[in-house]
Amino acid sequence: MYISAEKNEENRRSTSARTGAEYPCGDSNHTGSVDNCTEPLQYRMYRSALPDPVANPESALHRQYHAGTAPLNGRTESSTDIFQTMADQGAVATAQRMLRHRLESSPRTALQLHGPQAIMQRKVALNTSLVGNNLKGLKVSSGGALGVVFIPDVVAKPEVDGQSAVDISTSINTVMGGVVDGGWSVSAPSARLAQVLEVAEIAKALNLRNQTKPGSVGDQNRVAAMVAALTTRPENVVIYEQAPGTDFVNHLADGALNNAAAKKQSKKGQPKTGSGLAQLADPGYARHLGRIAALDIFMGHRDRLHGAGNFENWMSDVRSRRLTLVDNDISNLSLANWSTHQDVQQLTNQQYPLLANTIVTEIDSLLNHQGYGGGKLGAKDLAVWQNTIRPVFQTCIEAGLQAGRLKLLQRGWGLVNALRVANSPLADRLEERLNHLHNG
Ligand SMILES: Nc1ncnc2c1ncn2[C@@H]1O[C@H](COP(=O)(O)OP(=O)(O)OP(=O)(O)O)[C@@H](O)[C@H]1O
Ligand SMILES: [Mg+2]
Repeated sequence: MYISAEKNEENRRSTSARTGAEYPCGDSNHTGSVDNCTEPLQYRMYRSALPDPVANPESALHRQYHAGTAPLNGRTESSTDIFQTMADQGAVATAQRMLRHRLESSPRTALQLHGPQAIMQRKVALNTSLVGNNLKGLKVSSGGALGVVFIPDVVAKPEVDGQSAVDISTSINTVMGGVVDGGWSVSAPSARLAQVLEVAEIAKALNLRNQTKPGSVGDQNRVAAMVAALTTRPENVVIYEQAPGTDFVNHLADGALNNAAAKKQSKKGQPKTGSGLAQLADPGYARHLGRIAALDIFMGHRDRLHGAGNFENWMSDVRSRRLTLVDNDISNLSLANWSTHQDVQQLTNQQYPLLANTIVTEIDSLLNHQGYGGGKLGAKDLAVWQNTIRPVFQTCIEAGLQAGRLKLLQRGWGLVNALRVANSPLADRLEERLNHLHNG
């Protein structure tokens, strides 16, 4: 059954009345779930164990940001909710633990890789040794330039710099972790570096299956390219958790929920439930896209919602209301080169309406474009997008950009600390960008 945006808002308002929550952008029409958090006691424990990210504050405003009390065009994002601060601290603690002990997430040693457990194992998790029977359902993705290898329930991907890719996943989860809006949450897949031996096994298995049954592990040219990449840079292959749902291109093509009732076209002028358009029409989802755009601008990642749009680089799962960011990047641009981009300038200067307009224009052109993940909608769909969805969507993107910038300022310095503790080369780059975002 299609649930109208109004009904959703109504539901959210009643939830809001129970929790007393107010939407961060301060728009009274957007009451409802905010950047929620849970487990306050646990966060309190983290907090006492943590180096205080504001121990060396650049300014009083910095302190306010961290406490969630900084003015946001005259309003606060999530009031002075102490639990929110704890959630932020908790996210930072999580990043620190993950970064400090990243080696521990590696699978067993080479000796153990050949043990009977590895061969018998069925359920493949992030730390499962990827050998033998655990490589049952190998498939090279049809999407992406090079793409990934599906090893349900993880994927393998040759990256340019494997450790950076792992640290980027952790960084995204630190900034976006625990932020729930309209029931939707955002994360990056948890990640670890692959062992060279595992990579050799994956490449060997792909090759063998491709030869014995051509096409069975994906398009033959893509398989050959993947095997070549795995073989030439095994030390930079990253294993990611498999994200639930499908990428946004698929949702645009036929993303209805997998049951007959949901597939029925709902009221005239309304997108069908579960479709890509229904997602864009969902305020919580749309605001999250705004937050993601702020994150992409900060990261200098120009392959999703900033610069060139790409609908393949986020996945959504309608049932669990989870958005997962894939194919992430932090550009290695100097501060001077990064900060001259118009999007960066507008985010820094808090020119949210202008910036939202740029982002929505790019999304609109993708929706109409045959390539780059768009071009899946018919004329009727495009009219619904243009007339019904787009105006509200743009307001939500605006609010999301604002909330995203604030989240970066709340959690960014703690993240930089954690990256520094882990000797990650990303620390300096992110710190200078944060200072720029804060001071202009
Ligand atoms: N962790 C994941 N879980 C599920 N599916 C994934 C995951 N990572 C990637 N995919 C799927 O595989 C596709 C290709 O992956 P990705 O975007 O990372 O590769 P790519 O575009 O080839 O990357 P690059 O541009 O760095 O070569 C994605 O669009 C998505 O559909
Ligand atoms: Mg991609």
